[in-house]
Amino acid sequence: MNSLHYAPLRNWVNDPNGLLFHDGRYHLYFQYNPLGVEHANLSWGHASSVDLLEWEDHPVALEFDDDEEVFSGSVVVDDADTTGLGAPGKPALVAFYTSMSKTADLQTQSLAYSVDDGQSWTKFQDNPLIDRGSPHFRDPKVIRYHGVDESYWVMLAVEAVERRVVFYRSDDLLSWELLSEFGPAGAVGGDWECPDLFALRVENTGVLRWVLLVSLNPGGIAGGSGTQYFVGDFDGRTFTPVTPVAPITATDDVAMRSLRWLDYGRDCYAGVSFAGLSDDHRTLIAWMSNWDYAREMPVDADAPQRGAMTLPRRLSLIEIDGVERLRQIPVVPAVTAVSRVADEVIPPGGSVTVPIRAAGRIRLAVDVDDAAGFEVSFVGDDEQTVTLTYDTSSAELIVDRVGVAQGLPKGFADVHRMPVASTPVVSLTIWIDELAIEIYADDGTRVLTDLLGTLSATSVRIAGRGAPIRIETLDTSAAVAATC
Ligand code: FRU
Repeated sequence: MNSLHYAPLRNWVNDPNGLLFHDGRYHLYFQYNPLGVEHANLSWGHASSVDLLEWEDHPVALEFDDDEEVFSGSVVVDDADTTGLGAPGKPALVAFYTSMSKTADLQTQSLAYSVDDGQSWTKFQDNPLIDRGSPHFRDPKVIRYHGVDESYWVMLAVEAVERRVVFYRSDDLLSWELLSEFGPAGAVGGDWECPDLFALRVENTGVLRWVLLVSLNPGGIAGGSGTQYFVGDFDGRTFTPVTPVAPITATDDVAMRSLRWLDYGRDCYAGVSFAGLSDDHRTLIAWMSNWDYAREMPVDADAPQRGAMTLPRRLSLIEIDGVERLRQIPVVPAVTAVSRVADEVIPPGGSVTVPIRAAGRIRLAVDVDDAAGFEVSFVGDDEQTVTLTYDTSSAELIVDRVGVAQGLPKGFADVHRMPVASTPVVSLTIWIDELAIEIYADDGTRVLTDLLGTLSATSVRIAGRGAPIRIETLDTSAAVAATC
């Protein structure tokens, strides 16, 4: 079991689409090329799972044709059969996707439906549903809005190049009326893509907020693709951030770092959440790559495949120092202990090395006290290394994967930074496999996801910087159940 991350066995994959929990199953559709490893012939691939850990692959759900590629979108269950597309006693699952025209410079929103629980899909005869005459109008996410005395469907999509989220309303999922627009705001250094909107109650204050996720490419915090989020209110018509967020150019690093980022790594993009779960089970999956290099990643000649998903993450909101932040807790397999170190002081120049398994978890709590910081190095048998440096003075974790980028596309050799507090104890929970590392810090309010290139780590080494550090705990575990 070497992978914690879902990927289809073959071919190209990018964004998760139509995430839906329905009748005890999690459905994961995704941008997929049924014919190869290029970003082409975009269709919706399909996998499902009962626990978000083990995934079963299914036939392609929605296929490209002569007229269109099937770009990203979402799925809802039409319980009241407002579309009239359901069968008796069997509500239709309704998918919204972007028709990427092959004949015109045009993106429109279209519908497809399924009456067999999401296995097979029929494109609606009167597509498209919404045509703004725009070449950059995409990524519809449909949610049910419950107001004080009425409830209806709301669709969010983007005018990508204008950096706007556009909101529409419908009572029957078929005819849509424009409600409002949000943006440009926050990071605007690239196209806005794949929006999502959901309500969460702030864990420690009880206040109800709405979270608007907006992916953008390029212009993300680690370079290339990244996802920012806004916290605010949604009154059924308009999204308003709690405090206004001005548009920021990507060159203003201080201002960029003051924004809210879902992930500080290079490889967490286009994340959206599942429909069909209660708000306290809000769960997100993202694509684990970056448009800066995704198309050029090397493929294995025996089983050509490109792209994978992040771990699923349960989302909540928590207020820290007056700022409401998303907290992410990954959904993970059971683990069995591999090694443990407790209460060990490392003198300057010293280090501690313990073995790790190909797929598993590392939990680390280090008291930095007076030290300038510490280093966590993931080392392979061939001495290839990815190093995480904790810098006490800037209170940042710096991930350096330059050493594992050989033979990989330009842009992969890179260093990424994430703010992490020390109390003076720094606590990290790290999930690693042969594909990637996901680092959860500050109680899940800071997350960094990076592909690991050519590294197959077999050990982890902790060393201080300048002064003694004390390892409060270091435990490494192996995942016992496959996620895919
Ligand atoms: C985001 C994205 C979407 C688009 C899809 C095409 O990664 O560019 O905006 O619908 O990928 O595959």
